[in-house]
Amino acid sequence: MGSSRVRRTAAPRTLPEKPPSDGRTLPERFRLDGRRALVTGGAGGIGKAIARRLLLAGAEVALLDRDLGALQRASQEFGTLGYRVLILAADVLRAAEVRRAVRRSVRTFGGLDLLVAAAGITDRGTAEEVDLPRWERVLDTNLTGTYSICREALPFLRRGHDPAVVAVSSVYSLIGGVGRSAYSASKGGVDALVRSLAAEGAPAGIRVNAVNPGYIRTPMTEPYEKDRTAMDFFRQATPLGRLGEPEDVADAVLYLLSPASSFVTGVCLPIDGGRSLGR
Ligand SMILES: NC(=O)c1ccc[n+]([C@@H]2O[C@H](COP(=O)([O-])OP(=O)(O)OC[C@H]3O[C@@H](n4cnc5c(N)ncnc54)[C@H](O)[C@@H]3O)[C@@H](O)[C@H]2O)c1
Repeated sequence: MGSSRVRRTAAPRTLPEKPPSDGRTLPERFRLDGRRALVTGGAGGIGKAIARRLLLAGAEVALLDRDLGALQRASQEFGTLGYRVLILAADVLRAAEVRRAVRRSVRTFGGLDLLVAAAGITDRGTAEEVDLPRWERVLDTNLTGTYSICREALPFLRRGHDPAVVAVSSVYSLIGGVGRSAYSASKGGVDALVRSLAAEGAPAGIRVNAVNPGYIRTPMTEPYEKDRTAMDFFRQATPLGRLGEPEDVADAVLYLLSPASSFVTGVCLPIDGGRSLGR
């Protein structure tokens, strides 16, 4: 009805790439050239895979970990790939060490733009089995350790270029599990911390997000690998039918740190093959 005629043009066979608002091409939206990053737990399975993604994307990377031997091995590994990393031996439980490490990273790279908090431990035991010192160790490392590194880094991130933070939480912040009381409580705290840091950081343009991995093959999960019942359980509980690799987490972290996610903050993103669907 009506007299106006709509002229239809034939749809192009391949859609032209839509130019992003800031003029970056699609691959450029996942690049981190010139960005200065610090990764805690950087000598561990997930932290090291994240560091590798950040290096590939063009960032300068500092690895913080309490395990000096593992840091040195990681540095050698990256060296054979042609990358140099700064290694910082520090314990996230010790505020003075965290402060020194952050400052050294800032001095070396001339600033700080990106922070990944991946240092963490697990301790399996029901609430009755886990005593207070064990509970506190998990809470102190996973939650207070994440807070501590964020607190030291924030004044520098404030002056950074497109600053962003990612905390490595866990699927156990979203679901319960037998023997996971301390661990899931610590990671639930991380999710809550991330949302408040995101609110606090937003006026300064600091984005803060979390990833919530399901079962990922790393030194942390190595003890399960020989336990057939446990492995069958993890596979069956994962709708996508496979266990995760550190690279699955690293790809999500790269997205959350890159310009591709410039409108994303305060998000806790499950990387769990559907485990948190709880089917
Ligand atoms: N592997 C999984 O299935 C899985 C699943 C969900 C979440 N996560 C989380 O991912 C993160 C990385 O775990 P991962 O699987 O790579 O384990 P990992 O044991 O390989 O790595 C953890 C790293 O953190 C370091 N670390 C531990 N306590 C520290 C401290 N006090 N100070 C400094 N460094 C410390 C360790 O030395 C180690 O290098 C952890 O926060 C973990 O809770 C792992």
